[in-house]
Amino acid sequence: MCGILAYIGREPAAPLLVRLLKKLEYRGYDSAGIATVIDSAIHMAKDVGRVDEIASHLDLTSLRGFGGIAHTRWATHGGVTPENAHPHLSCDGRIAIVHNGIIDNYKKLREELENRNHSFRSGTDSEILAHLLEDNYDRAGNEITAVSKTVQKLSGSYAFVALFRQNPDVIAAARKDSPLMIGLGDGENFFASDVGAFIDRTDRAVFVDNREIALINTQGFKVTDFNGVSLRKLPTDVAREVSDVSREDFAHFTEKEIHEQSQTINRALIQTPEKILAVSKELAQAERIYLIASGTSYHAALLGKIYLAKFARRVVEVSLSSEFRDLEEFLDDHSVIVAISQSGETADILEAVGIARQRGARVVALINAEESSLSRTCDLSLSINCGPEIGVAATKSFTSQITLLNFLASQMAQKRRNQVELEALSKKVDNILAQDKVVRRVAHKFNAVSDLYFIGRGVHYPIALEGALKMKELSYIHAEGLSAGELKHGTLALVTENTPVVALNPEDATYEETLNSVSELKARGARVIGVSNRVSTLYDDFIQIPSVPNDLFPIIEVIPLQLLAYYAALERQADPDYPRNLAKSVTVK
Ligand code: G6P
Repeated sequence: MCGILAYIGREPAAPLLVRLLKKLEYRGYDSAGIATVIDSAIHMAKDVGRVDEIASHLDLTSLRGFGGIAHTRWATHGGVTPENAHPHLSCDGRIAIVHNGIIDNYKKLREELENRNHSFRSGTDSEILAHLLEDNYDRAGNEITAVSKTVQKLSGSYAFVALFRQNPDVIAAARKDSPLMIGLGDGENFFASDVGAFIDRTDRAVFVDNREIALINTQGFKVTDFNGVSLRKLPTDVAREVSDVSREDFAHFTEKEIHEQSQTINRALIQTPEKILAVSKELAQAERIYLIASGTSYHAALLGKIYLAKFARRVVEVSLSSEFRDLEEFLDDHSVIVAISQSGETADILEAVGIARQRGARVVALINAEESSLSRTCDLSLSINCGPEIGVAATKSFTSQITLLNFLASQMAQKRRNQVELEALSKKVDNILAQDKVVRRVAHKFNAVSDLYFIGRGVHYPIALEGALKMKELSYIHAEGLSAGELKHGTLALVTENTPVVALNPEDATYEETLNSVSELKARGARVIGVSNRVSTLYDDFIQIPSVPNDLFPIIEVIPLQLLAYYAALERQADPDYPRNLAKSVTVK
């Protein structure tokens, strides 16, 4: 989702901004642009496409100036056009802004501004920020007051950064419900949507919180509340680890991240015993537990529900973050919310957590990005510890989430045996990864396929959902995941000659029943790809997985499904790292 960036310092801003903008590419975007300021002029260039292409055809790095702002846009309001790309200028070109979020009342504000003779160049909600600032700047006489007067008019979510032609020595920003941080360097400072953008220049960061305005110059920073009252904010040292984002020898980040899982699964188990104890206690004492998440993390939550029931004997509710509002009235100070999010920045989950907190519920977060908004709003957190995930579609974070959920539930049941088994999984994961040629051959057969189904029962059902989601995200093949038991209640009507169905069927209590479903599918002509530790003549293709304790099958059986989606994407010339229309961190509702 939109990435925002700003630099002020001693070196030419444009080449640096272009380089750092590439570190925000993983968030997902469709257009990009930058603006710099020098000699009482703002220079701006922007277009649709990838940062490298735009930088080369618009010669972005030649823009002069020692201060500038930059943006990757993921369209929400207004189509994907050069005019709608950011930055946006005020009418007189004195102010340039970049924005992440959605200004809910932009239509009304635009009407008011147009009545005051402002002319708009784009169809975005964001452009109103430049015009409001323009109106307020002269009257305010300084940047903070101008921003303060502007934010009083806004409703919605935003992090925006503004550059001023009349004062090239400062860059101003404001935040409400969208991520924003300051990077403090030596004679240079930054604003960014995430720490990864500036981490190779500085690891000292100040987190701008909701309803705060911030200002940077070459010497330092200032933060105020929305009324312009100064706030004391202390810099934090952020983990250098987030700079480790090389593809190494892999063709794509997604491939690298799939292959990393033999190590990342183990890293999910590196937890401080006191923290695990504190979370276990919190869950044990709660009257009601809700697991909430979005996308792939939601599938981890579905599995978490099964683990908590099986091991810890706790019946919990699972909700999509975006649907959580319906449960609001049942929340109180005896409720515990377990918020599962790789990024810790998904707007839906942050909103759900906000609702829960208002009702007095406690919040436990399972996160990967430790410097995220979620980690700063929860009561307790556990890190899944899998390192930066760049591929837009989640892979390694999913296996880390379910490993940690399994670990947590088994610890709650004082079932320590499980940790040893979990640690032995690494080797089994390597074993699966070594079969990637088999998986690739299966993916090759999906070339002419338009629909694909994934089935499984019990712990395999959330994996069927995840396998289908991965396939849609990466290859654009329509895919559906369903409980094998539900086939006969509808989806079987869609099964005809050669319909491909992936059956998740390791040898556990669900084995025979799922095999019966496979027989029913075969009787209707389906082509079944079995994923199991036990072969059957019913399968047309077979992906072998090693034998592990039953509750651990999900952790390893999802890996061939990730590879399947990855190779299907390559077969169809899709870019697996940056699927169209999708964003890594969905920071708008
Ligand atoms: C986006 C990503 C998905 C991810 C989902 C939830 O849609 O493309 O891969 O699963 O957000 O993200 P979170 O960071 O909250 O786990």
